[in-house]
Amino acid sequence: MTASLTLDVSGLTCEAGGRTLLRDVALTARAGESLAVTGPSGSGKSTLLAVLAGLRPPRSGTVRVCGTDTATLRPAKAAAWRLRTIGFVYQFGELLPELSAIENAALPLLIGGTGRAQAYGTAGRLLDELGVGKVADSPADVLSGGERQRVAVARALSTRPPLIVADEPTGALDEQATDDVCELLFSLPERYGTTVLTVTHNPLVAVHADRRLHLRDGRLEELTEARAEAEAPDAARSEVSEPASAEAEA
Ligand SMILES: Nc1ncnc2c1ncn2[C@@H]1O[C@H](COP(=O)(O)OP(=O)(O)OP(=O)(O)O)[C@@H](O)[C@H]1O
Ligand SMILES: [Mg+2]
Repeated sequence: MTASLTLDVSGLTCEAGGRTLLRDVALTARAGESLAVTGPSGSGKSTLLAVLAGLRPPRSGTVRVCGTDTATLRPAKAAAWRLRTIGFVYQFGELLPELSAIENAALPLLIGGTGRAQAYGTAGRLLDELGVGKVADSPADVLSGGERQRVAVARALSTRPPLIVADEPTGALDEQATDDVCELLFSLPERYGTTVLTVTHNPLVAVHADRRLHLRDGRLEELTEARAEAEAPDAARSEVSEPASAEAEA
């Protein structure tokens, strides 16, 4: 156990519907690292995120997030802990449609008791920084998919949590918006010092992460470069071709 780790998971086992979804899973992540978990549909990726966030109890094992053992969280304190520790980004943005972009982004701060002026100030700055300042006052339900995800990232960042978890954050986007959101998501460790853990079906998304893991038959395995290339040769090629094309443009 190391308190300075953002994530420190060991011996994690979880069952659902009579099936073992996670089998003796171990995982650590440091501050400022990005991780991508791939795996077949139904393999337990969303379940893994729910267990890591303390939203679902494991059958056995230990989950520590920033040194806190999630099993020790009392229900009354768990929500406040989660609010300041983990930011969530989901597939469709999951914004409240009747609220504006800035109201959505400010919501976690308002819920956490931050005053209105400060909450809206922080939310507005984040929307600017993430390239969606111009839609700050637009209702969430008129935003494009890509804009929605940027606002969702701003909302996730608003409390400055050390960990951002994203569940299929590009699953509802076209190729261009996927690239944009990917670039944004994987820039967060450097820009904000957060650890980013995303689960995705898309190897072209996973390839941007510092570390790639694969969940299959309950086992979470770290992919080496060679394994990642074998799993998704096109994605691995696009990764190595990026610097070359940037050089060609220069
Ligand atoms: N509370 C539950 N009760 C029964 N079965 C459950 C429960 N929660 C999840 N499952 C089952 O566990 C399996 C894993 O679900 P999960 O949503 O974690 O998969 P996933 O890898 O995120 O899939 P996808 O890629 O399609 O989102 C599924 O077969 C699902 O039906
Ligand atoms: Mg899922």
